[in-house]
Amino acid sequence: MRSMELVVEGECYISGRFERACIGIDGGRISAIARNLEGDRRIDFGSRKILPAAIDSHVHFREPGMTHKEDFGTGSLAALHGGVSCVLDMPNTVPPTTTMSALDEKTEAAASKSLVDFGLFAAVRPGVDIAGLAPRVAGFKLYMAGTTGDLLVPSLSSVERELAEVARSGKVLAVHAEDESLRRKDLASNLSDHLRNRGNDCEASAIRKVARAGEACRLHICHVSSKDSLSLALGQPNMTAEVTPHHILLDRDRPLGTYGKVNPPLRTRADRQALFLAFKQGRFDTMASDHAPHTVDEKKEDFDFAPSGMPGVETMFPIMLQHARDRHLALATVVRALCERPGEIFGIKKGRIDIGYDADLIVVDFMDGRDVRADDLYSKCGWTAFEGMPAVFPRAVMVRGELVMKDEEQAGEFRGRDVVTNGR
Ligand code: NCD
Ligand code: ZN
Ligand code: ZN
Ligand code: ZN
Repeated sequence: MRSMELVVEGECYISGRFERACIGIDGGRISAIARNLEGDRRIDFGSRKILPAAIDSHVHFREPGMTHKEDFGTGSLAALHGGVSCVLDMPNTVPPTTTMSALDEKTEAAASKSLVDFGLFAAVRPGVDIAGLAPRVAGFKLYMAGTTGDLLVPSLSSVERELAEVARSGKVLAVHAEDESLRRKDLASNLSDHLRNRGNDCEASAIRKVARAGEACRLHICHVSSKDSLSLALGQPNMTAEVTPHHILLDRDRPLGTYGKVNPPLRTRADRQALFLAFKQGRFDTMASDHAPHTVDEKKEDFDFAPSGMPGVETMFPIMLQHARDRHLALATVVRALCERPGEIFGIKKGRIDIGYDADLIVVDFMDGRDVRADDLYSKCGWTAFEGMPAVFPRAVMVRGELVMKDEEQAGEFRGRDVVTNGR
């Protein structure tokens, strides 16, 4: 029998169920799966469960320009702790990712610091060289309403040419779907006010508009948050839809103050429950965290001034694994939305334990649950809206066959690479 470079053994999640198996790994990829395999090196995880690591296709790691909130080092360590081996970073940084030189600068920062693999989004704005950027980005991002950053495109007619180029490029167009013309700017002092400023109609209208103007694109609707959007965003041709942990777990009645201020907003209990049910039924393509860290000092501002966004890359998979353990969600649904579908949509060979896929794995002990505590987390921002929620953190995380986190501590000197260009 041929000897693999590395063999990992345990209860492996393969084709929707756990079976005792050996995973053979060569050059960072899964090269064989069998009951018994020979390896130059071997790691036996015993009765622990081995699952694919997650791909978080929506994070804001804030580098360059806002590294007091997060950077690729701290953000990627947080990702690893949460069982995420690959992140796609959003373009609302400083400078924004809209030019080749901005993309170069961000790629360099990520390649030198990131402990997980990564892909980068560029933003659609009038005049952006879409065709030039396309070969180097995971996708394009369109902001239809004001949110953190300066990338608002208030009228889709101003980016007609750019949207046509996105369509030609074959890349995904990820959309922040809130209609700026329906957004109210009344003084907000709590989560209900914030919701009133960004009502359900605001999201629904934006989805309708982009479905028309971006008809030729592979549309991906980010952070769908309202029950009224479900019939517009789910199960549509040429459209995929993302949901976040916060929109299915939290609503405006939580006493979170500015820490719950996020765009699109936390909505009513009825919205949250409708989203949770749709997610449970497997109707969403992906779950992503929209990890959007801001510092405690920034969140201590008056409600109206405090920035929108909350961290989540570190807690998403652990909290969802707990939900699977408690049978509130099927594990298959969780793995599909956090691992498999993001890989399929963005063309990344990760997210499955299967031959030819990157050996990005997490090792889990479902009996070893623990509540989320901000003090245990690695994100630079130092807080979480999920404080106290039960979770199952991975005991070990592998990226391309390298053990990069063990017992929730960084292991080794691994550096992630760009999944679009493969570091070329
Ligand atoms: C995000 C941020 O802070 O970058 N904020 C948020 O409330 N979600 C931007 C965004 O995704 O809209
Ligand atoms: Zn957004
Ligand atoms: Zn975002
Ligand atoms: Zn921990």
